[in-house]
Formats: sequence, C-alpha cells, structure tokens
Amino acid sequence: MKIFVTGATGFIGRFLVEELFRRGYSDITALARKTSDISFLKKLGAKIVVGDITDESSLNSAGVGYDAVFHCAASINNYDRKALRRANVSGTENVFRWAAGHKIKKMIYVSSVSVNSVNTDVPLSEELPYGVTSSYGASKLEAEKIAVRFRDSGLPTVIVRPAIVYGEGEPHWMPLLGRFMRLRFCFLPACGSSLLHMVSVRNVADCLVSCFEDDRALGKIFNIADSRALTIRQLLGIMAGCLGVPVPALLPRPIAEKALKLPFADKCMGHLLKDRVYSTERLKEEIGFIPKYDVTMEFALAALFLRAKKYK
Ligand SMILES: NC(=O)c1ccc[n+]([C@@H]2O[C@H](COP(=O)([O-])OP(=O)(O)OC[C@H]3O[C@@H](n4cnc5c(N)ncnc54)[C@H](OP(=O)(O)O)[C@@H]3O)[C@@H](O)[C@H]2O)c1
Repeated sequence: MKIFVTGATGFIGRFLVEELFRRGYSDITALARKTSDISFLKKLGAKIVVGDITDESSLNSAGVGYDAVFHCAASINNYDRKALRRANVSGTENVFRWAAGHKIKKMIYVSSVSVNSVNTDVPLSEELPYGVTSSYGASKLEAEKIAVRFRDSGLPTVIVRPAIVYGEGEPHWMPLLGRFMRLRFCFLPACGSSLLHMVSVRNVADCLVSCFEDDRALGKIFNIADSRALTIRQLLGIMAGCLGVPVPALLPRPIAEKALKLPFADKCMGHLLKDRVYSTERLKEEIGFIPKYDVTMEFALAALFLRAKKYK
C-alpha cells in the first residue's frame, strides 16, 4: 500500500503517520514545505516530498501510484483570512484535483466540526445544516464543499470532522491556556458547568486509519470526538492538577455573558457557555468504530507533557 499524507509535520499528521506505521504500512510519503521540521518523519522512515499545497505543480513531484491520500494540511490561524483561503480552500482544491487526476483509490479528508458549529443542538450530528461562527470555520466549510464535489464526481472520499483536538505536543491552544493558568489569569465561564466534547489526537489518528481500512466508510462524512464529554470545570481541574497550578476562578454565567458582549471579546468563546457535544453514532453504526482512548487519561497525559515542556 502506497500512502501520501499532507500536513504530516503538523500535530494530527504526526500521530496519523505514527499510527500508519504502527499498523504495518511502511510505504508512506509525506508532503513537507521547505521550512517544515521533518526530523520526526525521517526517524519513522517516511519518504519526504518537498512541496506546498498552494502550488499545484509542486504536488506533481510526489509521483504516482498512491492507494490513498490523507489530506490534513491546513492553516488554522483564525486571524489571517488570506492564509486560510490560500491553504484551506485553494490548497484543498489543488490536492483534490491532483488526486482525481492521478486516480487515487481513497481520499481521506480531515475536515472539522466547525463546518456546522452555528447549530446549538445537542448532540451535534453530521446531518445538521452547514453554518459557521469563525473565519477558520468558513474556510473549512468551503474546503469540505470541494471535497464533497470531488466525491460526488466519483473520487472515492471519506470526510472526517474532528472536534477540538488535544494531546501530547498540542501546539495551538494548550500552551496558551497553560500560560494563562500559571499567571492565574483564567476563569471558568458559567462556573465551568458546560460540557466541552473534545477528542484525543490518538482517537483521531485511529479513526482516520480505520476509515481508510474499511470500505464501508467511503462516501461518508463522520464526526470524531471522544466517547464522552467532560465539563469545562473537570477538564481545567485535570489540567491544573497536572500543571501544579490552582484551579481557575469561577465566573458566574451572568458575568460571563456580559464579558462576551465587550467589543474585544472573542465571540467563539460563547461556545463555552453552552454544551458542545458531538454525536459519533454514525461511526459506530457504519463501520463499528468506537473511540478507545479515554478523555481523563489522555487529557492528563497531554497536560503532563505540557508541564514537562515548560509550556513552550
Ligand atoms: N487541531 C484541531 O483541534 C483540529 C480540529 C478539527 C480539525 N482540524 C483539522 O485537522 C487538520 C490538521 O490540523 P493540525 O491541528 O494538525 O494543524 P497543524 O498542527 O497546524 O498542522 C498543519 C499542517 O499543515 C501543513 N501545511 C499548512 N499549510 C501548508 C501548505 N500551504 N502546504 C503544505 N503543507 C501545509 C503544516 O506544515 P508545516 O509543518 O510546514 O507548518 C502542518 O504540517 C487541519 O485540516 C485542521 O483544519 C484540527
């Protein structure tokens, strides 16, 4: 089996490549930019092709004959709309066009639950209408529509939508939250009573490879989240314990709601005032996949890893 991975130098991509090797796939090629840190991939034994998803011609140096492509590369910088469009929309179009042109047998696309985050239903399922609450979500929505278009025109595709991902080495929000907690500048909105359903990066990697291995997944869209959600108070309690810092102060709901109305408040934080729970029933029903890594243990491991790295 010949496998091509974009975004393999990123947080999810690294765990994915590790999981592929663990399951015995040894012919893995990773697309990496000139600036990417490829040391981890080299150690594992992956082949490297230098390229950029925003430059379609660079994909051609990847060669031919791939059985599967995992497309994980993306920008997740919510504050740089141009970069989001370039990487997530144009880049995804390029990768899918290249895959269709090379008759790739399976395309596994990493989307995001942000594509229908505007809905308030609990649990949030895959059938809910599209609607976004951030620039990042808007770019992932456009990208998913591209994936759906190629799927509908015959490219065998599976679309996987992870919830917020955590894990050892999480580079985006855990170090920042850790620093705020250490400075004691962190609060539990609505006293931390809302449920926040996240997903361990190990469950994501396991799910992506399972979708690749099981033909029943083809053509489908799946949410992936942990098998249970914890409250924000439970999550931050675990994190505080592992980092050796005090549990954040409680911010009663009326105050949190007022704070969100301030002009500089990040409206995405409004999600923390309501339950965000995702249904993963479809994965179970269609391919019998159940997330096996438990949130309490995995989140603690991620926080301990963060402590060992001194929040860098
Ligand atoms: N993390 C989450 O909570 C989460 C949740 C839901 C969905 N997702 C989705 O999961 C995927 C992976 O996310 P992540 O957290 O692993 O992100 P990440 O750590 O920021 O990794 C992004 C990866 O994409 C690569 N990349 C970015 N722009 C590229 C370009 N123009 N050409 C080639 N490669 C490029 C990066 O390469 P460099 O190493 O060179 O930077 C890196 O390997 C994304 O599609 C994201 O939207 C993430």
